[in-house]
Amino acid sequence: MARTLPVVPTAPPAVGQKAERGRLITVASTKGGSGKSVVATNLAVVLAQRSDRPVVLVDGDLQFGDVAVMMRLTAPHTIVDAVSAMARLDAQFLQSLLVRHEPSGLLILPAPLEPSFAERVTGADMIRIVEILQSFCSFVIIDTSAQFNDVVLALIEQSDDIIMVAGMDIPNIKNTKLGLQTLRMLGVDETKLKLLLNRANSKVQLDVGEVERTLGLKADALIPSDIVVPQSVNKGTPVVLEAPRSEVTRAFERLADQFLSAGADVPMKKARGLFGRS
Ligand SMILES: Nc1ncnc2c1ncn2[C@@H]1O[C@H](COP(=O)(O)OP(=O)(O)OP(=O)(O)O)[C@@H](O)[C@H]1O
Ligand SMILES: [Mg+2]
Repeated sequence: MARTLPVVPTAPPAVGQKAERGRLITVASTKGGSGKSVVATNLAVVLAQRSDRPVVLVDGDLQFGDVAVMMRLTAPHTIVDAVSAMARLDAQFLQSLLVRHEPSGLLILPAPLEPSFAERVTGADMIRIVEILQSFCSFVIIDTSAQFNDVVLALIEQSDDIIMVAGMDIPNIKNTKLGLQTLRMLGVDETKLKLLLNRANSKVQLDVGEVERTLGLKADALIPSDIVVPQSVNKGTPVVLEAPRSEVTRAFERLADQFLSAGADVPMKKARGLFGRS
C-alpha cells in the first residue's frame, strides 16, 4: 500500500510551464462534535489512496486538534515547528515536518501539542503554510475548530472548497444557518460551498428534506450514522480502512469522487444557489 513520495519541487516552474496548484478543501462547522474530524480524516484518506501526487491533511483545530489521535500517529513535529521557521519555510522543510500515515500514504501536519501554542499561529502563517503545501500536493485538506476564528476565516477565504458539516439536530441546524449567513456576509463565493449532513439517517424526527428546506440548500453529501465510526475512532483507524464495505465508507468515497472528478485544480460549479435563497 505504501507509496514512495514524489520528489518535492523546490525550484519554481520553468517559463511557460504551468505550476499545478493543489486543491484546498476546508472542513468546517459552527457546532462542536458535528463530525468535522471524522469527515476530514476519511475524505483525506480516500483522496490519498486515489491520487498520484501527495495529499496532506492539516489539523487546523489548533487548540484541541485530534487528527493524530484519530489516525494513531505519534507526531515528532507539529504546525508550531513550521510557524517557528516561517522565515525559511519552503516545500522541502515543510515536507520534513509531515507525518506519514503508512496504510494510506496520507501526509499529516499535526496540531500543536499544547492548547496555548495555538496563539502562536496567525491566519497569515496558516495561509503561507497551505500555499507551500499546495505547490506539491494534489489536495490539501484542513480540519478546523468549531469557532470561526481568524485562522479558520483566513482558510475559508483561501479555500477552493468549503465543506460545511451539519448534524441532524435543531441547535446544529440553527448554527449552520448562522455560519452560512456569516460566510455570505464575508462575500465567500457560494460555488465553493458543499453541505454535508452527518448522521443523516438518524431517526430524530427531523429528515434531510426538512433540513435542506430550513437551510435553503441541497446537501452535497449524506453520511449515515454507524457504530463503526466511533469504534474506528477509538481504534485509531479511519473508518474507510476499518470497514471498507460499510455504507459510511461508500458515502465518503462518493464525497471524494466529487473532488476527483472535478480535478485537483479546476473550480467546481454548483448546480443550484446556496445561502437560503429559496
Ligand atoms: N457518521 C457518524 N456515525 C456515528 N458516529 C459518528 C459519526 N460521525 C461522527 N461520529 C462520532 O462523533 C464524534 C465526534 O466527531 P468528530 O470528532 O469528528 O467531531 P468534530 O466536529 O471534529 O468535533 P470537535 O468540534 O470537538 O472537533 C466522533 O468521535 C464519532 O465517534
Ligand atoms: Mg474535531
